[in-house]
Amino acid sequence: MSRIAYVNGRYLPLSHAAVSIEDRGYQFADGVYEVCEVRAGRLVDERRHMARLDRSLREIHLARPMSAKALSAVLHETVRRNRVYDGIVYLQITRGVARRDFAFPPADTPVSVVVTARGSDRARLEQLAADGIAVITVPDSRWRRVDIKSVALLPNVLAKQAAREQGAREAWLVDEAGRVTEGASSNAWIVSRDGKLITRSLGNDILAGVTRSVVVDVVKAQGLAFEERAFSVEEAYAAREAFVTSASQIVLPVVRIDGRPIGNGAPGLIATALRRDYHRHAELS
Ligand code: PDD
Repeated sequence: MSRIAYVNGRYLPLSHAAVSIEDRGYQFADGVYEVCEVRAGRLVDERRHMARLDRSLREIHLARPMSAKALSAVLHETVRRNRVYDGIVYLQITRGVARRDFAFPPADTPVSVVVTARGSDRARLEQLAADGIAVITVPDSRWRRVDIKSVALLPNVLAKQAAREQGAREAWLVDEAGRVTEGASSNAWIVSRDGKLITRSLGNDILAGVTRSVVVDVVKAQGLAFEERAFSVEEAYAAREAFVTSASQIVLPVVRIDGRPIGNGAPGLIATALRRDYHRHAELS
């Protein structure tokens, strides 16, 4: 079955799906995106993802191209047409096609909207979670507004590639004070020796992960010890557990950081339980 993409009002086979070389997403990374998990054919946490999309659009002064209801219909239809049961749906909105000029194009320039969906191998992801992943740390060289889910991801690409080359699956980005901001495509968490869950507080220096926000709600509802603050790389090395959260990976235990085993070198109990229970707390639509 060939994959289908939604491109500016039409559903097309991927081989025919294209945007112009003058699209501002291509020229300037002038656009934003969202990734939603698909589980059993339904979208996970769609409302929170759409709320963050609205915020990203506002921050870059781009109007939403269609109503929330219409956008939701496109996301679901793309999932349906691709027969995705477990996987992800990807949405990208850019400032449209215009002659290359840094300043915004005329206000009536239509934005470009692209939606794709693809299946994932759930058994493989479960095995990854059962094994736990390795991460490396690298300096955070991104711009100062990474709270906007912008398609400008070159530093994240380079960090992720460095991780792969060192046999790791994720890179944790580290600020100038030696504290972890977040992963290249995930939020970073540790469980301290005395059992406190710790993740960096929201600000312009991390993305407000939707998975993070659901996990924070669960942690609070369950009354677990929780601190929203920055943690250093040294604290992470000494942690009892570490894990990452993202829409495509949910909760993924980290068992090695820069080659050092975390805790006893196996996935932690808290991370494993959060992963197991996540979809009981998430919203499916
Ligand atoms: N990445 N931080 C960064 C830099 C991210 O790119 C992501 C998500 C997250 C986690 O956010 P959420 O829980 O809402 O997925 C944090 C997505 C999955 C991606 O780019 O593929």
